This record gives sequence, C-alpha cells and structure tokens, in this order.
Amino acid sequence: MSTKIINIPEQPPEDGLQSYKEYTLNAEQYYLIDQAFLVPGQKVSFRIFSLHGQMLKLVLDADESAPAAIDKTTVDEKSDFLIKSSDIPLYQDYLSMLTKTDSAFKGDKSKAAVIIKEQSKMVMKDLFANPVSRQTVETVRDTASHIIKCIFEEPEVIYDLLTLKKHDFYSYMHSVNVAVLCIGLGRIMGLPEKTIEHHGTGALLHDIGKTAIPLEILNKQGKLSSAEFHIYKTHVAQGMKILKEVGGLPDESLIIVLQHHEKLTGKGYPLGLSDKEIKTAGRISAIADCYDYLTTPRPNKYALNPYEALKTIAAEKEDYDRALLAAFVKMLGKMAKTS
Ligand SMILES: [Fe+2]
Repeated sequence: MSTKIINIPEQPPEDGLQSYKEYTLNAEQYYLIDQAFLVPGQKVSFRIFSLHGQMLKLVLDADESAPAAIDKTTVDEKSDFLIKSSDIPLYQDYLSMLTKTDSAFKGDKSKAAVIIKEQSKMVMKDLFANPVSRQTVETVRDTASHIIKCIFEEPEVIYDLLTLKKHDFYSYMHSVNVAVLCIGLGRIMGLPEKTIEHHGTGALLHDIGKTAIPLEILNKQGKLSSAEFHIYKTHVAQGMKILKEVGGLPDESLIIVLQHHEKLTGKGYPLGLSDKEIKTAGRISAIADCYDYLTTPRPNKYALNPYEALKTIAAEKEDYDRALLAAFVKMLGKMAKTS
C-alpha cells in the first residue's frame, strides 16, 4: 500500500485568527477513533489515518467497494487514529458488527463502556453540527440512559468512559465527559435514578448554546477581551433559548444548562447566583464542568492531570458544594493516584 501524507497542523499556527480558523475547519474534517476498536483481522470499509506530530498518514486504504483487513502492525503503533468525518456512518456499522460478532467485545464490561463512549461521542458530534430538534433531544436522552446503565452495572467503568486524549478537545467530547462525571457523582450521592438521568441529559446538552457563539471567540488563543468574554458567556442564555424552543425537557436538565457556571460565592455567571439559589443539578455540573475543562488540553493550553485538577478545584473550594466536592474527590481518587 502506498503511504499518503497529508499535512495537518497539530498546533494552530501563530499568525492570527484567519489561519487558526482554517486549522479548526481542517481538523473538523477528521474524527478521532478509539484504538481499542482496531481489531487485527477485522475488515473495515473506511480509510484509517494516524497522526504523527503534524502529519496525518493514511495507514489503511479501504472503502465500501474494497474493504480491507486491519493489520496488526498498524494498530500496535503508538498513535492517535482518525477517520474522515464523512465515514462516521460506516464506522458506526463497524462498531455494531464488533459488539455482535467479536468474542473480545461480547461480555466485557470495560470494552462495552468504550463502545458506549464512542457512540455517545458520535451522537454529540451530530448534535453540535445540526439544528436541535425534538428527535435529536430524544437521542440525547437515550444516550444518557445508556451511560447510566453502564455506570450502575459496573461503577469502575467510569474511568473507561472518561476520555483523556490529547487531540479530543471538541465541545462534543467535553459534553460526554461532563455527563459521565455528573452521572457518577449522582450515583455515589444516592440520588434517584430518574434524577440522575435528567442530570445526564442536561450535562450532554449543557454547552449547546456554544453553537451560537462565533468560532473566532470559541477558538481564540489566549485570553478573551472583556467584550469577547461577554459574548462567550451568552452561550448559557443561547442554550436555554434553543432548548426551550424544542421543549419537552425536565427542569432538572435545564438547570444544568442554566447553572453550570454559577459559583456558591456568587462569582459565577450568568446570574451571579449564590448559596441556596443554586440547585443540586447546578452544583454537580459546576464541579464536573470545571474538572473536565482543567483536564482537557486545547491548543495553547496544557491539561492538568487528575491530581492537579482536583487540587486546583480544592483551592477554590468555597465556590463549590462541600459534600459534593468530597464525594467527587473520592470518586476520582483512584484516577488521581495513578496519574
Ligand atoms: Fe459552559
């Protein structure tokens, strides 16, 4: 097979907004997949690329008319693997086939969790790319209940469900991580399952208002100006507007959209609420959102490891609910110790 090299910048260029926008659009044409699903010998009908520094290399050439088997040496490579975004439906078919036919995937809870994560990621990518409708919200609700089922059956899979990948900084991935964290925290706090499901749905949708914020602001390198930050903060109101127009969501989901940036000290936004004005759903999502933000790398922003992130949040503990924060640290303690 001939090797085709495509130049894709790993880091955005430093010469201004326009080229950074091009970088983002270019990066959006590809979709990061989990290496766990590249099973040697299995046939795929989509092309697979690996990312080496700033180079994207075609490692498996295949399409629907000429499927090809995955080669062991390819998947042993230490790399991030990507497919073209347009091949996502073919990748979804491949995942369903794996769960049904591959013995390694049947009955393994940890592998089942990774498949759920991968499917959730695709639902969210779709949600962020298209107008929100009653039907897409229903799919999001189903996604939240799949994640809950997974965590309730085997709490340890929470570590498999969280994604800590260096190139996976998109809003859709952040939403899946925040949902996993909210669901995990709701479970250890002993909240009713229905409440946890509503929290999970709200967490998946919490940043949907970002679709109404200009990319120049969302992807800006460095600090936002106060005018830009003012626009950025409107993603909360925009999210509420979008979801209220669609309708049918429970209050416990909408509270997450509305209150995930509020702080108990009153220093948050959009309303600067404090203490009892912030509901449990808002308090849970504020911790989850902040933790995932800190542990996710973005262009020009290093990611903290779980231990450092928990330490950073603890340094501002007055902003967060004390009992929830203690439970959160306990939940992620294992991850923090091994990082
Ligand atoms: Fe947000």
